[in-house]
Amino acid sequence: MYRSHTCGELRASHIDSEVSLSGWVHKVRDKGFVVWVDLRDRYGITQLVFDEERTPTDLLETARALGRETVIKATGKVIERASKNPNINTGEIELLVSELHILNPALLPPFTIENDTDGGEDLRMKYRYLDIRRNAVKNNLIFRHSVTMEVRKYLSDQGFIEVETPYLIKSTPEGARDFVVPSRMNEGQFYALPQSPQTFKQLLMVGGMDRYFQIVKCFRDEDLRADRQPEFTQIDCEMAFVEQEDVLTAFEGLTKHLLKEIKGVEIDTFPRMTYDEAMQRYGNDKPDIRFAMEFAELNEMTQHKDFNVFNSAELVVGIAVPDAASYTRKEIDALTDWVKRPQIGAKGMVYVKCNEDGTFKSSVDKFYDQDDLAAWARLTGAAAGDLILVLSGNTDETRTQLSALRMEMAERLGLRKADEFAPLWVVDFPLLELDKETGHYHAMHHPFTSPKPGQLKLLDTDPSAVRANAYDLVLNGNEIGGGSIRIHDRKTQEVMFRHLGFSPEEAKAQFGFLMEAFQYGAPPHGGIAFGLDRLVAILGGQETIRDFIAFPKNNSGRDVMIDAPAPIDEEQLKELHLKLDL
Ligand code: AMO
Repeated sequence: MYRSHTCGELRASHIDSEVSLSGWVHKVRDKGFVVWVDLRDRYGITQLVFDEERTPTDLLETARALGRETVIKATGKVIERASKNPNINTGEIELLVSELHILNPALLPPFTIENDTDGGEDLRMKYRYLDIRRNAVKNNLIFRHSVTMEVRKYLSDQGFIEVETPYLIKSTPEGARDFVVPSRMNEGQFYALPQSPQTFKQLLMVGGMDRYFQIVKCFRDEDLRADRQPEFTQIDCEMAFVEQEDVLTAFEGLTKHLLKEIKGVEIDTFPRMTYDEAMQRYGNDKPDIRFAMEFAELNEMTQHKDFNVFNSAELVVGIAVPDAASYTRKEIDALTDWVKRPQIGAKGMVYVKCNEDGTFKSSVDKFYDQDDLAAWARLTGAAAGDLILVLSGNTDETRTQLSALRMEMAERLGLRKADEFAPLWVVDFPLLELDKETGHYHAMHHPFTSPKPGQLKLLDTDPSAVRANAYDLVLNGNEIGGGSIRIHDRKTQEVMFRHLGFSPEEAKAQFGFLMEAFQYGAPPHGGIAFGLDRLVAILGGQETIRDFIAFPKNNSGRDVMIDAPAPIDEEQLKELHLKLDL
């Protein structure tokens, strides 16, 4: 028997019992006449003690020579500690070791296995199995497990059935590129890995499953960011005989349940905002509403004052940054440089300091008098002590720029509090989005999303005005989930494909199976998918999903531990009927 207890288990009540523990040598403290070894496993740390008085000399010498991360088994008697450690659960006791077995020696790890490690990101990723021994990573994985279990329990209790769908499929367009897998048995043909199980879950509804969910891997070949991985996990759901309201109610229920069970946070009802409103008030379709700094459009009151930058702008828009009037000239200049960086792309920034005495000092005092500036303050909701920041230009770009500035200011002012949760639904998304480069429309959510009732005709005359039965769940400025009510009849789906630029033949070749299924009694249906990695990270108070994935990819999409992707040999290429032309 390797162990009778774990390293996190022994308490004062175990004093005098004979026990065995197995684990990793965390630390050795050698005081000469006494040697303490911290033994670690997933459950905690227990102190082992060896001393001149009670331990045979050879055993004491073995203990002294133990290297970090050596795997050992220790047997002995639980005794009361002379100096207790209130910081750990086993801090009242220690194990007086009578027998020690080295189960496996270990090389010196390339970084220390401590909460604050000296290992950089690359090194930790290369030796991820060592990184996982650290509390920070280990606890994130355990946290992910609790969230996942809670999701399964809740959805199953609500009558959702978990069904697995295949990974080797045909392209499901979700807006990214596919990862493809060559078929050995079908020369020149490829499977695509699912960007989501979208079409399969709809077919499950045609199959009468009624309420489906799946915690499922999805694969998307797209540029990576802190909240994006090429393979990630969705809580994917679909329901039959539902309207938008039913889906929102069901998944607001799941989110509330998780917030309560996992974080102890109770939220009554989630606010809802249309896409247009979110863009106007926050310049963003996933607004962080933990703090205000709402956009105020200042076009009307800034025109005709000889300030040409504003006169010629499609949008003049500002925010009131709380308590930032004390920003120095240098700090404001630095902020202006920040918005002018190519990543943000603003041409300049106008500021107004709202002084404590009720006067205003702005960068455009030449053009606007105190009354003008007081009106800006009214509109932006600025109080004495606040700093108004104004950007101008083309509507879409300016909103994006000010939204980035709003988030940056919130970050700097500590307003993005990790233990505060502000969910909301964003609804009524546009059905289509114009790709400025190609001039073509593509589906903003995906091609199976239905337009709002009565808007199908509008597709012919004003495609960008058509709104979709689509919704996103936003949490703390992150898109946690997205879904829609689907098209469930062949005719509408054909119209949709036509507007997306598919010829009838192309639509049939790619999605004939779905349109055929629609002819055999497809129920009205809709659903949603949550990004599990994002949800877990945000509930865990962070935004980088990598930290909550056991074996993530780096920013170039590589697994640096196993060194993938990697070339394959000639033989394998031949078998797959592939020729490389590099
Ligand atoms: P969507 O494309 O919005 O919808 O994806 C759903 C959610 O998945 C998460 N997500 C990601 N997480 C990590 N890395 C990625 N690369 C990544 N891409 C997406 C986001 C997102 O909100 N089939 C539809 C759902 C439906 O209509 O029911 C879909 O996949 O949190």
